Amino acid sequence: MSAGSFRAPKGVAEYVDDRAAAFDAVREALTGAAQVAGYAMLELPVFEDTALFVRGVGESTDVVSKEMFTFTDRGGRSLTLRPEGTAGALRAIIEHGLDRGQLPVKVLYSGPFFRAERPQAGRYRQFSQVGVEAVGSDDPALDAEVIAIADAGYRDLGLRRFQLLLNSLGCRECRPGYRSHLLAYLAGFDLDPATRERAELNPLRVLDDKRPELAEMIAAAPMPVDHLCEECRSHYDAVRSYLDALGVPWSEAPRLVRGLDYYTRTTFEFSHELLGAQSGIGGGGRYDGLAADLGGADVGGIGFGLGVDRTLLACEAEGLTPGDEPRIDVYGIALGEQAKPTLVATLGQLRRSGVRTDMSFGSRGLRGAMKAADRSGAPWALLIGERDLSAGALTLRNLSTGEQVQAPLDDIDEIIRRITAEGEVDNAAHP
Ligand code: HAM
Repeated sequence: MSAGSFRAPKGVAEYVDDRAAAFDAVREALTGAAQVAGYAMLELPVFEDTALFVRGVGESTDVVSKEMFTFTDRGGRSLTLRPEGTAGALRAIIEHGLDRGQLPVKVLYSGPFFRAERPQAGRYRQFSQVGVEAVGSDDPALDAEVIAIADAGYRDLGLRRFQLLLNSLGCRECRPGYRSHLLAYLAGFDLDPATRERAELNPLRVLDDKRPELAEMIAAAPMPVDHLCEECRSHYDAVRSYLDALGVPWSEAPRLVRGLDYYTRTTFEFSHELLGAQSGIGGGGRYDGLAADLGGADVGGIGFGLGVDRTLLACEAEGLTPGDEPRIDVYGIALGEQAKPTLVATLGQLRRSGVRTDMSFGSRGLRGAMKAADRSGAPWALLIGERDLSAGALTLRNLSTGEQVQAPLDDIDEIIRRITAEGEVDNAAHP
């Protein structure tokens, strides 16, 4: 068999077969955790005006300065494939006036994001996030809610070997003072021109620099938590006690500044211990000036983006197999063409009653069809032969034990009872 002439583009993740089911199960677990806290789904475009990201995410970030997939449309507009979700979600909230309605607005989104990064394990050019944004409240209980949702999503999947790293970056009141402190500290070092330039745009970026030659300088640098104003300090204390009340374990990470410029106060990251260099399975934080910067009401907000690809890698590293359940309950087989219309109709009725079914298409003979039934993973095969038609019966075969039982052709409820009450079927097969 030919493997075809084309390959997926460099650096994208794609999922087929069992891994696709696993990916879907991860995404469902993460969105499910947000839905139980009242977050409503938003459907957003995957490209936006380039200026939205420059303004929203910040020019000093790698994401904006090096990693955007930007193109010009036929009307000469500069557009960018979304590298992250917060800027677009806020744009939509403001455009539709939700920031002036009932607050906080709590939204959820899920889909592909694009960054022109150097591909490596767990770092792709197209990747998937489940994100939430809660806009319009400064209440630290909201910070804890958002963080606890992410924690619950990971735990629902069975993940254990991850850590929540927590920090506070201060606000418009205390950040300028801290910034001058940090700049004065950095002035004492002979930084290369690129680092100097980033430091001038946003000195906090330097704390995030992973180059080993800067490690010592960064370790001794002043940290944001040591320069918080009174309000930021009590906000941070409250977030931590709400997390304790919610039973969400956390560790302090004073150097955690994250890769995007909009963060204020609470910032956090979930790091998985078995993933190596790309250990961040999700992260987020508060962004109190962002809505106003984008032309909306001056309201605060907080959110997260959870990496679906990396969360799946984390599950695999822990030996978990999300989505590892049969996709169907019943696999239908018609023995002869005459039985086929009845089989199709019966399976249709079962589907309408919520029983998941598939069937053998074409004419592959009983052996081939039974093999396909086994491969389908369905616990039951449903067989209808020409003789069954006149007897008004069909056969249900338990595909793990091989036991068979007859059921009436026209009684869907009885068929459902047989396949759900296994004991009854066994008894019927062995009177
Ligand atoms: P972020 O930390 O840039 O935050 O991305 C969130 C998560 O997306 C990361 O923790 C990681 O799991 C995943 N991710 C990021 N880049 C890649 C990549 N190249 N390949 C695979 N996975 C990746 C944000 O995007 C913010 N918008 C989160 C947020 C929402 N903050 C407030 N609200």
